Amino acid sequence: MRQRLFLPLITLSAAFVSAHTLATQMPPVPDQRPGRLAQAEQSLSDQLAQAPWMDQRLSADERARAALNEMTTTEKMSLLAGDFAAPMDPSKQVRGAIGSAGFVPGVSRLGIPAQQQTDADLGVTNPGWIDPDRQATALPSVLAAAATWQPELSRQGGEMIAREARHYGFNVLLGGTAGLVRDPRAGRNYEMPGEDPLLSGLTAAARINGIESQHVMSTIKHFAMNAQETGRHKLSADIDEQALQESDLLSFRYALEHSHPGAAMCAYNRVNGDYACENDYLLNQVLKDEWGYPGFVMSDWGAVYSAAPSANAGLDQQSAAEDFDGVVYFGAPLEKAVERGEVSHERIDDMAYRILRSTFAAGIVDHPPAGEPIDTEAHAEVAQRLAENAMVLLKNDDAVLPLDGARDKRISVTGAHADRAVIAGGGSAAVVPMDGDALPDLNPPAGVNTQRLYPKSSPLGAIGLHAPESNVTFSAGDDIDEAVAQARDSDVAVVFAQQWTSETMDMQSLALEGEQNALIEAVAKANPRTVVVLETGGPVAMPWRDDVAAIMEAWYPGQRGGEAIANVLFGQHNPSGRLPVTFPKNDEQLPRAQVPGLSIGNSAFFDVDYNREGADVGYRWFERENETPLYAFGHGLSYTTFERHDLRLERSGQKVTAHFTLTNTGDRKGRTTPQLYVNAPDGSPARLAGWESIELSPGQSREVSITIDPRQFARYDSGERQWRLEGGDYRVSLADSATDIDETQRVALPAGVVAMAKLPRDSAPSTGEDEQRVAANESAMDDSP
Ligand code: BGC
Repeated sequence: MRQRLFLPLITLSAAFVSAHTLATQMPPVPDQRPGRLAQAEQSLSDQLAQAPWMDQRLSADERARAALNEMTTTEKMSLLAGDFAAPMDPSKQVRGAIGSAGFVPGVSRLGIPAQQQTDADLGVTNPGWIDPDRQATALPSVLAAAATWQPELSRQGGEMIAREARHYGFNVLLGGTAGLVRDPRAGRNYEMPGEDPLLSGLTAAARINGIESQHVMSTIKHFAMNAQETGRHKLSADIDEQALQESDLLSFRYALEHSHPGAAMCAYNRVNGDYACENDYLLNQVLKDEWGYPGFVMSDWGAVYSAAPSANAGLDQQSAAEDFDGVVYFGAPLEKAVERGEVSHERIDDMAYRILRSTFAAGIVDHPPAGEPIDTEAHAEVAQRLAENAMVLLKNDDAVLPLDGARDKRISVTGAHADRAVIAGGGSAAVVPMDGDALPDLNPPAGVNTQRLYPKSSPLGAIGLHAPESNVTFSAGDDIDEAVAQARDSDVAVVFAQQWTSETMDMQSLALEGEQNALIEAVAKANPRTVVVLETGGPVAMPWRDDVAAIMEAWYPGQRGGEAIANVLFGQHNPSGRLPVTFPKNDEQLPRAQVPGLSIGNSAFFDVDYNREGADVGYRWFERENETPLYAFGHGLSYTTFERHDLRLERSGQKVTAHFTLTNTGDRKGRTTPQLYVNAPDGSPARLAGWESIELSPGQSREVSITIDPRQFARYDSGERQWRLEGGDYRVSLADSATDIDETQRVALPAGVVAMAKLPRDSAPSTGEDEQRVAANESAMDDSP
């Protein structure tokens, strides 16, 4: 049994034929084949053309029902378990599999294609470099995409990834991460869309819609509460039902209301004692019954421990079964469980039905990947646009930024390999970027079995292009004295700092690794015009904050990160990113001063008490504890200035619409993100209730209207299992961040249940417009007064 998916960089022998090559060679060209075989294939395809499940006029449900009726029990069972498709030993590759995360056979007799699964949210991956020829456009991190507060950009990213997936022959992307950032030190925060359910849910929905728009199936994950890596196979995330529904589950629910992922991936961890993939409450009661999710549940790689309990709890497909779980539970053990009457025949049918339904709904039967060519330049631009819009200007004293080649004749650049590359996160989401890895000798720490990759995009080179007349110097940062001397002789000093984070490990603290804090402090002493650029997975502590002139958070900025950083530093792109997570001052401000289980890891079971913050994640925790963060959720500066004013509220039933005026009061064109926060009469901390990302020219004003989803006013009643509005006076604030409030108005709301409809079975991918406007979901919510 393999413990982890990530493979070390293996040297592939010359004799090795990549699985991708094998797969593309395998379907023989018809006219080269013996006539009888070609005829048999032709007659099969003629028969299939008449089959009702191939009739595109029918719904996915009707087609799945028709196909299921034709299937033998063995065929149904074959859909329920998959194989790992990037084995260390290439001779163990499953026939027909393209080398990547997973492969589930299809039923060729009925025209049902195999699932060729690959990761995912940042681009098409290449685990263990299994295919020497597979490079892909590496997008900025998901947290960066959330920092744009423009779901449309996430959707474009999803489309881009799916097009590249199709190029390589994949029809299932394991992407659409919707979990909340609960601990800023967690290793996979860079893969998550932030700490707020609405922002996270809509960002995830957009990514999913982009993917599914290209007829590639997407996977919402990790369901649920996979909030840290330490002990992820053992820990139980303990949280009360109400808090769970109002936080992580709400993020998933929003994502599912605005998009139609074919699969949901259950997580590694336990939730309230039961494994997420064996969790009746999560899978059956909430996802399938309460919400009516029509897709199927697939397991994370190595997250299954049983046959009957998992199947009965709602798991439909076991991923990478033999390699990762050690036992193909959804093979012989499940068949035996059926024989013994522990699992019903109806349940097996339901499992196969759900998989078939998603297969038809995603369009992978009607529009199989055809190796369409990749427009690398257009895709790099998608990555760059995302990165530019994601950069968050945290601080900018005395307008040290934007840099100006005419003023800044001597520019010192230091640290973080800025002369060669930008950094990317590690784990299953790591993308082998176009043009390969800039720093192949830099490996992860011992024992962390993944790729550490650096897209070849040099901030130094891009800075030089913006200031061709300036003297731009570089010091690596290892020698602090050298860096100080260089900074002292410069008009401005730009220090790059970075933090590598990865799946399977968490940061021990918020501190930047190595000597980076000392470097920044020393450079700041030598040059008052010091600008810090952070390339980090998420929040880090900044003990030097008051000593530097400017700070910009660039996240993991992807394929064109260097260009994007330079464009924002020089004002070619006016910064507009906003923090999708709170940046704390220090670890002591967090609900847990230490990441739980650091000394235990996966060696023993332990519990994490998430009731400490409950639904008050991130900015809500800071408000509740009356703590001032380093930088607040929603914060982000611009090179121009804006005013938000004249907030008015209008109510119709449970729906409240906020109207206000937004003006660009500065002298540059720029984009800003006015935000709405709601305070309930019960005194609970504020919640983000809406926002809009708007670009305005200098002096321009715009009237903005945002309709608030009634659940932002309501609480989840776990006794009744419904959202309930307490009657009373609610406050709605217009703000520039969670802590920077401009105006507040009150609105009286009547008591009542907030009806929540079942998720629609219609699976047409959204155009993105609905999640772009942060409004109540008309299709899934009743409009009852
Ligand atoms: C990760 C998933 C990923 C899967 C397949 C697991 O380790 O948790 O997010 O999709 O591997 O690579």
